[in-house]
Amino acid sequence: MSTTRTQSQSDPQSAQGPSAPAVHLVTFGCQMNKYDSSLVEGRFRRRGYRVTDSMGDADVILFNTCSVRDHAEERTYSWIGELKREKETRPELVLGVMGCMAQRAEEEIFGRAAHVDIVCGTRRFGDLPDMVEEVFARRANPEAFGTKGARLLDTEQGLEVEVNRLGDEYDGGLHAYLAVMRGCDLNCTYCIVPTTRGRVRSRPIADLVAEARWMAERGCKTLTLLGQTINSYGEDLPTSAISGNSGLGRGGRPSLADLLYALEEVDGLERVRMITLHPSYVTPEFAKAVARCSKVERFLPLPAQSGSDEILRNMRRGYTTDLYRKRIDILRNEVPDLELSSDWIVGFPGESEADFAASERFLEEIGFAVNYIFKYDPRPGTVSSDQRSDDIALAVKKERNARLLAAAEASGRKQLRGHMDNLRRVFFEDQNAKKPELLRGKTEHGLPISVPADPQWIGREAVVMVRDATAFGLGGEIQLLPGS
Ligand code: SAH
Ligand code: SF4
Ligand code: F3S
Repeated sequence: MSTTRTQSQSDPQSAQGPSAPAVHLVTFGCQMNKYDSSLVEGRFRRRGYRVTDSMGDADVILFNTCSVRDHAEERTYSWIGELKREKETRPELVLGVMGCMAQRAEEEIFGRAAHVDIVCGTRRFGDLPDMVEEVFARRANPEAFGTKGARLLDTEQGLEVEVNRLGDEYDGGLHAYLAVMRGCDLNCTYCIVPTTRGRVRSRPIADLVAEARWMAERGCKTLTLLGQTINSYGEDLPTSAISGNSGLGRGGRPSLADLLYALEEVDGLERVRMITLHPSYVTPEFAKAVARCSKVERFLPLPAQSGSDEILRNMRRGYTTDLYRKRIDILRNEVPDLELSSDWIVGFPGESEADFAASERFLEEIGFAVNYIFKYDPRPGTVSSDQRSDDIALAVKKERNARLLAAAEASGRKQLRGHMDNLRRVFFEDQNAKKPELLRGKTEHGLPISVPADPQWIGREAVVMVRDATAFGLGGEIQLLPGS
């Protein structure tokens, strides 16, 4: 059985021969999961495994899962279910579930999918190769383990995630992710992430720069920094965690601004982007760093979630629309041409037509270039799910979703049209699969652009005149400057 639905890469250059045991990862959810999957692949390679993109070829299959909405979990269960027959014909196969759903559902996973061998929490994935070995050892000696059988569960959360990839092989290509912090210390009432990802832990700047350098030396040119509230980076670190002068964070702590300045110095790196910011941690120092660092894209994801103060209070987002506006002023004061994206939840408990209309207006007022809209989904164990009834009918959620999408499209079109007939620095990322004569890239404002150009431009930057704009992307032509 092979699959095209995987996000793992095969690695023909791997030192391990074809007879080495093979691991296959299926990754759901956010970019943090993609990064974690690459770390897991590295750990297995170090143990002598091959990474394969074929399930049929794999001795170990791991699902890296998401819990943010019920749909994400159900999709994962149906994938795992599909492997039941495979496990019957190949009982030696090891099946593991890692990531947020593993952390949230724990034992429940064994209950719903008895053929799963390993459930591994969001801070324990470094031990997965050991856990697989343990499963083999238990299978070899079934009497010793009684009714528990060969199954293993580890969802301990109070632990650091140790990341040291410097001895690994880099297979990430032009673009890579880098988690600068893990976890979330906020408590938005709808959100499962603080439960699944635990308390915030930031990684020291020196470690992050070393990893970025390691990737850049191996061909990475664009880096996406990851964190659930990435601009709170450093709040949990001691002031002594930064060498030389004190940091730009609270009380001299290291902050995201310090990290951006440090990454600006990494040779080979051309673009730095980040996801996701939280309005509460926007500071003038951060805004200045975005303005001054030429590698940092002028595009920031700053989810508003709602335009109604009442709903924002019930979501416990920690700001009002006025406070949000003030944060935007801080950012646009330093970066006047900044583009923004937002996430929105429609149909939160108690959302009246007037509350929803406030979201429509706020989206238009701020002028977000990109918007992601979600229908409220009660997650077991969250405050809004336990204390409020999910009282907005699905039909109403769908209708509001469609209306906000229309507002998002109008806003996107307006923002993107503002770039027409301007010269932009475009970093080319890849070829358009359907139209190979077009290259796809990002402007310095992080906006997607398609340009007819020779593939030799991939991985390089060119000056492009923007000639076309829809709500979702730009088009343009390379400007060959005199002498080039
Ligand atoms: N840390 C980020 C986002 C985390 S989850 C932040 O704070 O913005 C990504 C998005 O999923 C959220 O921004 C939110 O819009 C959406 N989301 C989270 N929980 C949800 C729920 N229970 N129902 C619907 N959407 C949800
Ligand atoms: Fe969830 Fe809120 Fe934390 Fe984002 S800031 S991960 S929405 S609790
Ligand atoms: Fe999903 Fe966990 Fe990411 S819940 S969105 S995989 S942090």
